[in-house]
Amino acid sequence: MSDIVKITVPDIGVESSKEIQVIETLVSIGDTVKNQQGIIVVESDKASIEIPATMSGKVKFIYIKTGDKIIQGSPILDLEIEDLEIKIQSSKNLIKNEENSDVSLEKTGINLQNNLESKDISSYEKLPLSSPTVRKFARELGVNLNHIKGSAKNNRITINDIREFVKNTLNSKSTASNRNDLLGISILPKIDFEKFGSIEIKPLSTMRKIIGDKLHRNWVNIPHITNNDEADITDLENFRVSINKENEKLGIKITILAFLIKAVSISLKEYPEFNSSLDENNLIFKKYYNIGFAIDIKKGLIVPVINNVDRMGIIDIAKKIKELSEKARNSKISPSELEGGCFSISSLGNIGGTSFTPIINSPEVAILGVSKAQYKPMWNQEKFLPRLMLPLSLSYDHRIIDGALAARFNSNLIKILTDYRRALL
Ligand code: COA
Repeated sequence: MSDIVKITVPDIGVESSKEIQVIETLVSIGDTVKNQQGIIVVESDKASIEIPATMSGKVKFIYIKTGDKIIQGSPILDLEIEDLEIKIQSSKNLIKNEENSDVSLEKTGINLQNNLESKDISSYEKLPLSSPTVRKFARELGVNLNHIKGSAKNNRITINDIREFVKNTLNSKSTASNRNDLLGISILPKIDFEKFGSIEIKPLSTMRKIIGDKLHRNWVNIPHITNNDEADITDLENFRVSINKENEKLGIKITILAFLIKAVSISLKEYPEFNSSLDENNLIFKKYYNIGFAIDIKKGLIVPVINNVDRMGIIDIAKKIKELSEKARNSKISPSELEGGCFSISSLGNIGGTSFTPIINSPEVAILGVSKAQYKPMWNQEKFLPRLMLPLSLSYDHRIIDGALAARFNSNLIKILTDYRRALL
């Protein structure tokens, strides 16, 4: 027995009547799709979002094509469902959808990991104006639209602008690697790996491509320098362990990250350059303190943001880390939870390493990488004592922050972590 179920556009966090554009269809008629497998990619004015199937089945009919404009509730495709259990699940979903027109992201299970891109193009960093056809053309050539000034009304970019950009870039006197960086084209030679042994080819997921584009863009466009230092967190760790014991029954666990997030917000107040963003001719200083933290999820990397950290206590920050980590790992995070960050922290401390170079999360101007704390013999002018040392790697945008300022920021952070009473001053 089989049944046909219509998969429609869920609530993707934009106004329900607002049109969004289909920029890619990921399946064809006859394909077998799995529950949560991406079926189309849409683009709103804020983000590219992959919409997944909400059950498994065979694609019988597709209602839309690339370039179509759709709204919440528009039909995407018909799925032939075989399995009885999935049928039950499907009818449950349909009932829910009908009962509640304000279907939340959580209920639809929409894959928002791809909204990493929403950080790029959120309210503080708008995408250049261009039509889907133009964006597709740019994608095909690997051209980054942020490098192009549009010639049409409101600086809208046209296909001709892209052609001119490519022509000028190729004719320019810049070096080959510069050219390819600007165009986003890799000059690495193509290698036939099969010549050397058996291989397996797996296509990159949309999310992996988005992450890759973003990291490449930030790495190429921002002159990164990393300041490495260590904080003595022996006393802080003893305090953390004792507090966690006290709160064991309440189920609240504080990790070093919560103390780091708070300490960073205090240091940002003292060193406002680290809480700024660069636009063409200005430095924009932010008077709010929103800190992002990188979470390692199955599909890649995501950076949720905790807002107004300066007004929060450590326990609330710890609860928020837990809440956002769980949401991120269950694909339930919303675009608004990925926006508006001032500074990011990437902690690999629970895994290992002694230092690394974190890549700045544009439009932010600095990021803190945290490696694994280890006991080391430290000299106190009389003898060596075992102290727990936390490695901190601060990458900063050298256009805005000088090396001395970065060293001061890191030292200030270290002072707070070494003696957390300073956080009260
Ligand atoms: N040094 C030593 N131990 C550390 C540590 C550090 N720097 N940071 C965390 N730990 C310990 C924690 O204290 C905890 O130990 P405990 O159980 O004794 O209290 C343990 O490691 C597990 O911590 P975790 O649950 O991971 O919590 P967290 O708050 O430190 O980190 C996340 C939360 C979401 C950031 C983390 O799980 C994660 O995803 N990290 C990877 C981020 C990433 O991929 N960054 C790379 C970007 S390029």
